[in-house]
This record gives sequence, structure tokens and C-alpha cells, in this order.
Amino acid sequence: MSAERLWGGGFEQPLDPIIDRFCESFSFDRRLLLADVASNRAWVEALRDAGALTGDDAARLDAALAGIAAAEITIGGAAPPGRAPAAAAGGGPEDVHTFVEREVERRVGADLAGRLRTGRSRNDLVATDLRLYCREEGAGARRDLAACVAGLAHLAGRAGGLIVPGYTHLRRAQPILLAHQLLAHAARLMRDDERIAEALSRMDVCPLGSGALAGTTVPVDRLQLARRLGFASASANSLDAVSDRDFVADLLYGSALIMIHLSQIAEDLILATAAEFGWLTLPDAVATGSSLMPQKKNPDVLELLRGKAGRVAGRLAGFLTTLKGLPAAYNRDLQEDKEALFDGLDTARGSLQALAVVLRHLQPLPERGLADDAGDMLATDLADYLAGRGLPFAEAHTCAGRAVALARETGTPLASLPLETLRTISPLVGADVFDRLDGPASVARRACAGGTAPQRVAEELARVRAWADAAAGDGKGHP
Ligand code: ARG
Repeated sequence: MSAERLWGGGFEQPLDPIIDRFCESFSFDRRLLLADVASNRAWVEALRDAGALTGDDAARLDAALAGIAAAEITIGGAAPPGRAPAAAAGGGPEDVHTFVEREVERRVGADLAGRLRTGRSRNDLVATDLRLYCREEGAGARRDLAACVAGLAHLAGRAGGLIVPGYTHLRRAQPILLAHQLLAHAARLMRDDERIAEALSRMDVCPLGSGALAGTTVPVDRLQLARRLGFASASANSLDAVSDRDFVADLLYGSALIMIHLSQIAEDLILATAAEFGWLTLPDAVATGSSLMPQKKNPDVLELLRGKAGRVAGRLAGFLTTLKGLPAAYNRDLQEDKEALFDGLDTARGSLQALAVVLRHLQPLPERGLADDAGDMLATDLADYLAGRGLPFAEAHTCAGRAVALARETGTPLASLPLETLRTISPLVGADVFDRLDGPASVARRACAGGTAPQRVAEELARVRAWADAAAGDGKGHP
């Protein structure tokens, strides 16, 4: 039996080194080290309470495990992702569970270390470790989301009453407050937070004590064990428990949707900071240059946010494909969960952190806002005016369309057409029509709940700010 494996008693040949390298997971699952130590410590207590370990042995095992956690930085649990040198060369520990057991052995000897594994399998252990890891990282993602929501709210506050063209089909549609657009993105990230929170509450179930597949013969109190690890309950079916990775899929979906939302924010910001739009500027601290064109200031950060969305969606699709058709038990395919999860969550969290920085730096340019130059984006206001005077909206729409055509033919902004000209489209037009035909009036009239009127946007801003403050306060990302 190899010192680096937890099996092999009945094997006659050593493992081929290429296969060894192919199967190892320590190069990436080493980041589960602290979770693995926590699961092991809880298991030691459960074994002691069940009478399967003496109090003295349990205390020695626990001290050894605590020592491993304390030395975690030096042994590489917190090392950056990538292949550990020993694993890359072959001959390193097969996985983090092997590593921890061998470290325990080094500290308390093989006899006692060999008792740690009583009644437990790596199958229930890895499922538990991964949930513990997800709990931490999921909470971290919620903090990152909260910081972005706060950043969007802050920028919306600085944008104040800045009116910009609202687009549909990327064509000028109706004037809106820039703050309204920014808060639309905040709403998406707030839902993302709710989604991650739901995933975390669904995964709050402890698989430890499920054994390899059928349960354990040691009479451990599984509910107490679950509570010790901070889980709300213990899993109900051992076969499901060791092979359920729904929680990984949930978090990957949550991460993928965060990235989709970030890509949408990025796209809006790329446009808003382009000269042709230009109501926001991208300061140098968050812009990049061109090696050839000295005048360029590029939004590479935003483009990367947009680009990375594809990568995380790919991780989700890839992992779902791994799960498809698996027999309901542990299969080694499941080892593929880790790189997908780590990369998906790392990418989402890193992207949120980058966006929060960009949001702090963006500067609104009030002089680029619309005032009385909203042009034919006021056509709906003209139609609404006519409908308000009793014309069926469909007819009002046609009349306003004729006014737009006249404005275009004569090269006059809609709001500058003479009253007589406007009267030719409908005798219902009165001099008060001009009160409607300007940007601020158009925006102010959209005062329904959820509309872009300054009052409504101010209320929404207050709600989003309160949410972000509460999220920052409880450290979880949710009021
Ligand atoms: N490295 C494995 C994984 O990530 C740990 C579980 C191994 N279990 C087994 N029976 N081979 O899934």
C-alpha cells in the first residue's frame, strides 16, 4: 500500500504513474483542507460519543487535526489554484482526504490515525467538505454582490437627475434617468443574492455518516453531528447523500446568472462611456490603453466581465453534463465537480469585485444629459397628450407618427414644430402641448410605481441603499 493512498491492501502492483497523475485531485482539492479538517474533527467527536473512540484517543486526534488547520498556510491549503508541484510530478497524495490522514499519522502514529476512518468513507467526507466550502464561498459571493449593489446605488445617487436616452432595440426610445437604468441592474443583482441564499439554505444538510453508500454501522447521532458542523439537518438517504451534487449545480447556475447580469451591466457601461453616448467617463485607474493608438482609452475590464460570462455558463453546462446519467451512488465522475465549482465561483466573485471598483471610479457627466433636446423620443408623450384629450390611443399614435414625419421632413425637433403645424395632425392639439414636449416633463410624468420619474427613482434608490446597508451590516448580503 502506497504511503500516498488510502487503499491498495489487496493490490499486487503499484499504480502506473501516468494513471496516478490522471486520477489525483490534490492539486485542486487542497483548497478543501480546512473543511476536511472540520469534518474530521466533528467525526472524531461523533465516534467518541458513540463509544467507538476513547476520550483520550479522541482528544489526541482532535489536537492533531487542530494542528493541521493551524499549519494550513504552510502546507498549502490556501495556496492559489493550480497544480501542486508534488501532484504535477506524480507521487503526491491522491487527494486532500489522503493528505489529511497522512498528516494525522505523522502527528499521532499510524495506529491511532487508522481509527479516524472508522465507519466513514471519502464519499460522505467529500460531500460534506464541499458543502462546507460552498457555505463559506456562497456567503462571500453574497458580500461581493452587496458591494456591487452598493456601488450601483452610489453611482445612481451621483447621477442625480441626469436624463439620458432610454433605448429599446438599441434605438432611442424614451428619455429616462440614468439612475433608473443603474438601479435596474441593482435589482438583478439583488435577485442573484436571493438565489444564492436559497441555494445555501437548500444545501444546509449534512451527508456525514452516510458511509460509502449504505450508511454506517457505528451508532453515531447524525443529527448532533450535523449540528456540530453547523448544518440544519442530516441527510435522509445515504445513497442520495453521497452522490447529490445539486448544490454545486445550484451555485453554478447562480454564478452563471450573476455573470450574465454582469455582462449586461458591462455592455451598458461600455456604451455609456463611449464618445457617441458619453454620459459616464471611465477614469484612467480602470481603463487600459492601446499599444499602437495613443489616443485610446479602452474599457477592457468591462469587456472581460462580458467575456467571462461565457466561461461560467460553460462550467454550468459542463457540470450538468457530468451529472447526466450517473448511477445513484458515488462515482469518480463526481470529482469533476470541484474544478467546475471553483472556477465558476472564483470567476463570479472576482468579476463582482472588479465591477465594484469600476463603479466607484465612474464619473457621470451632467452636461451630456438630455434637457429640451429629447427630439422624437417625445413622440409617445405627444400620443399620450392626444389620448388624454379623448382620442383613442391607436389614433393618437398615428397622429403623433405624422408629427414625427413632419419634424423629420423639415429638420425641426418635434418640440420646435410650430403650433399650427402640430394642429394639422389633430385639432385637439392646444398650446399646452409644449409643456409635455421636453425631456424633464416626459420623465416626471412617468410617476407610476416603478417608473422613471425622479420621485419614484429616489424612492427606489432609498430602497436599494437600505438593502445594501443591511447586507453590509449582517455580513451576509441580505436584510
Ligand atoms: N477525490 C475524490 C473526489 O473528489 C474523493 C472521493 C474519492 N472516493 C472514492 N471512492 N474514490 O470525489
